[in-house]
Amino acid sequence: MNGGSVPKRSKSSQRWLNRQKRDYFAGAARREGRVSRAHYKLAQLDERFGLVAPDVWVLELGAAPGGWTSYLAQRLTQGRVIAVDPLPVATPSARVEVVAGRFGDESVDGRIAAILGASGRAPLVDLVLSDMAPNMSGVRAADQARAMDLAELAAAAAAQWLAPGGGLVVKLMQGDGVDAWIKAAKAAFDEVGVVKPTASRSESREVYAVAQGYRAQGFAGVT
Ligand SMILES: C[S@@+](CC[C@H](N)C(=O)[O-])C[C@H]1O[C@@H](n2cnc3c(N)ncnc32)[C@H](O)[C@@H]1O
Repeated sequence: MNGGSVPKRSKSSQRWLNRQKRDYFAGAARREGRVSRAHYKLAQLDERFGLVAPDVWVLELGAAPGGWTSYLAQRLTQGRVIAVDPLPVATPSARVEVVAGRFGDESVDGRIAAILGASGRAPLVDLVLSDMAPNMSGVRAADQARAMDLAELAAAAAAQWLAPGGGLVVKLMQGDGVDAWIKAAKAAFDEVGVVKPTASRSESREVYAVAQGYRAQGFAGVT
């Protein structure tokens, strides 16, 4: 080594490493019969932050094809998942209620209210998860704006449906608007971390905000 500096990887060896990592989680998903490799992202976040207790009620936004939903269904023995997506979501358990549609549409809000209303508990959830992602156009500024719109929708979901003390996990794309979003999250929650699970592709700008201890003073209109 020269002067203790870390030698830089060539672009091709970095690409090779990224492919290996991607293949590892894709292979693990196949071997272990997971719905998608996304399963491991939530598993890693849960392991680190202790998010999913067996009795929690979860509002999951952007659930298709159902990797996170299946992970949640395995973990919950008393709680429930309300899984929202316009695309089909694998429903491995009676603990999962799928709401087919886009979060933000009135009909979707109505279905969530009806499910929570029928539960006999306060019409609030313990955990809001958002892995929502836009269809990418390839135009970076436009894609970033769409991703931030979804992060704001997730903030609105927390403001509407999250119980005091609850948790929020949101996929963010690093870029314009993220710092303001995190600042608003820090005002609304006791603790906020931003992490990239190893199961997330290193070449993607995706990170996850994990916010715990909701102060129930609203959290929306951040971007
Ligand atoms: C990366 S995928 C989610 C993967 C999922 N977490 C899993 O483990 O299988 C992103 C999803 O967000 C959904 N989505 C985008 N906008 C949405 C919205 N407004 N409401 C609900 N889902 C949305 C897309 O349809 C897509 O299925």
